Amino acid sequence: MLSRALAPVVPLSFGAPGYALAARNFTPLPSDAMSGRVALITGANGGLGFAAALAMAREGGQVTLACRSKERGEQARAKLAAAVPGATPTLVLLDVADPDSIGSMAERWGERPLDVLVHNAAVLPKVYERTPGGEERTLATNLLGPYRLTRALRTALERSNDARIVLVSSGGMFTQRLDLGHLDPDPAAPFDGAVAYARTKRALVTLGELWSERFVEPRIRVHAMHPGWADTPGVRTSLPRFHRLTRGILRSAEQGADTIAWLAAASADQLGSGGFWFDRRRVSATPLPGTADPQDQREGLVEWLEQRT
Ligand SMILES: NC(=O)c1ccc[n+]([C@@H]2O[C@H](COP(=O)([O-])OP(=O)(O)OC[C@H]3O[C@@H](n4cnc5c(N)ncnc54)[C@H](OP(=O)(O)O)[C@@H]3O)[C@@H](O)[C@H]2O)c1
Repeated sequence: MLSRALAPVVPLSFGAPGYALAARNFTPLPSDAMSGRVALITGANGGLGFAAALAMAREGGQVTLACRSKERGEQARAKLAAAVPGATPTLVLLDVADPDSIGSMAERWGERPLDVLVHNAAVLPKVYERTPGGEERTLATNLLGPYRLTRALRTALERSNDARIVLVSSGGMFTQRLDLGHLDPDPAAPFDGAVAYARTKRALVTLGELWSERFVEPRIRVHAMHPGWADTPGVRTSLPRFHRLTRGILRSAEQGADTIAWLAAASADQLGSGGFWFDRRRVSATPLPGTADPQDQREGLVEWLEQRT
């Protein structure tokens, strides 16, 4: 369905040419747009997470890289500090697929206000795999993790006077509609990682819309986005064939991360809350027919997540 409806436009729009075209209309933000703001980015040791952290630090933000590996996280922290004179990035250890790790990280965060929480960490596994806690890994990382982490850091977000949550989704979710019955892959059925991934990314976008209704503006605003197709370690390892076919037109990680950093820094009035963004433009989250959320599924999502977490 995706190939029929979007094939002519997707590679151009999602790839580097689309970014170049969109960027012609970007209005530059002040060079200190993130000054005085504290941001935490999950999965920030590489790919888009690192690029977003770098962009925010360049604009004067105090960034915290939330990474599951101490070694990879420390390398990224040092790289960022070296790249941005005067920046003092910090590292916290966080495995978003592990509820205990989320709990202890939030406890260590304590009373400090948090202005920007970027849910960037995600996986697209090739095979069905459970976390040590017994949850399917795609679901645990891409959806349950952001839900748990937001709940754990809610007070910190509420201490900010302009708090934002940025949900990094994917154009892959355009092919899926919200389906609670299939969010947790059946271990007995053949596993399709791309479908499992797209389903969690669809649910994340719906969750953002629901949160934007619950976290009454202006306390915590919620923005979902998709980065297009960017050349990152994740794309290279999870989608090697796709990477081979598209590498000539893939965006850089910096281009893919541009809208993440922009949503963290642009004027709050300009952004509203609950939108879905691509290349700094608010776009439809359901461009394909038949992918709008069924009302009962949408109404049941938070309850489903509460039960699972
Ligand atoms: N690149 C694209 O074209 C593209 C397209 C659509 C959407 N996206 C989305 O953009 C985001 C970043 O993607 P990417 O391409 O930069 O991926 P990536 O290169 O694979 O980076 C993902 C990051 O998430 C981290 N991570 C994975 N599981 C984690 C966990 N349980 N706890 C903490 N961190 C974890 C990884 O850490 P390790 O180094 O420890 O594995 C890595 O730092 C994802 O949400 C992805 O779905 C990307």
